[in-house]
Amino acid sequence: MKQTVLISGAAKRIGRALAESFAARGWEVVLHCNNSREEADILSSGLRESFKGRRFPVVMADFSSPEKAAADVFARLSELGVKPDALINNASLFSPSTISETTAELLRQQMSVNFEAPFMLMNAFYHSYGKGSIINILDTRVSHNRSDYAAYSLSKRALMELTRMAALEWAPNIRVNAVAPGAVLPPPGKEYSYLSELAAQTPLRKVVEMEQLIDALWFLLSNSAVTGQIIYCDGGAHLNL
Ligand SMILES: NC(=O)c1ccc[n+]([C@@H]2O[C@H](COP(=O)([O-])OP(=O)(O)OC[C@H]3O[C@@H](n4cnc5c(N)ncnc54)[C@H](OP(=O)(O)O)[C@@H]3O)[C@@H](O)[C@H]2O)c1
Repeated sequence: MKQTVLISGAAKRIGRALAESFAARGWEVVLHCNNSREEADILSSGLRESFKGRRFPVVMADFSSPEKAAADVFARLSELGVKPDALINNASLFSPSTISETTAELLRQQMSVNFEAPFMLMNAFYHSYGKGSIINILDTRVSHNRSDYAAYSLSKRALMELTRMAALEWAPNIRVNAVAPGAVLPPPGKEYSYLSELAAQTPLRKVVEMEQLIDALWFLLSNSAVTGQIIYCDGGAHLNL
């Protein structure tokens, strides 16, 4: 039977690559976006063209208001008659700031988008369906104490703890896992050299390929013996403490 996944932040970059990979594996994909409606619609129509008989619906929500966003997304799923088997929390905000530079507003934004919205979506998934699989996209930064992206790193750490806690609370019906990637794509405005410079500092000295990130995610999704697991797909960067 066809399975369905809800992917947040699916219009561009890693989220888009995940959406294409699920589509190619026969899944129906619900594409969440916030500002990138046009890109999401273009992706949806391209996928509909390539994979006939599937809808690839787009749902919009701003995770700055996490409770409303989760309620809106799940109301829309219900209207569409779609019941996802899996939830991928991929959307995120990546704002540079040390602890001393972090304003209350920046902290609130980072925590809302990267932690509270996934928290609310996970809860809505649990209450709506009661079974399935959740994968949270973290960052290798959860493993160290560098503070150049302090609020971002803390929000991802909170999401890591939530991953483990929810895995225990919701077993055996929902498995909850996470992937913690190293640099896969340069942030907007930065060149590929940004990645190669970061990769040169990792034990394996290689940029993480998108396919390698996707493989890690598929392992977590397909292995029914695994829950509460964090896979670092980062060239060993998390070992550089
Ligand atoms: N890029 C990397 O190399 C890398 C490395 C380590 C970890 N990660 C993690 O991997 C995931 C994907 O990375 P990425 O670089 O592809 O992410 P990204 O481009 O920075 O962001 C992904 C999406 O998040 C959505 N988003 C941002 N603010 C939002 C809001 N207020 N409400 C709802 N959605 C919002 C955006 O959707 P719209 O465009 O529709 O607004 C955006 O397209 C993230 O969780 C990131 O932390 C990435």
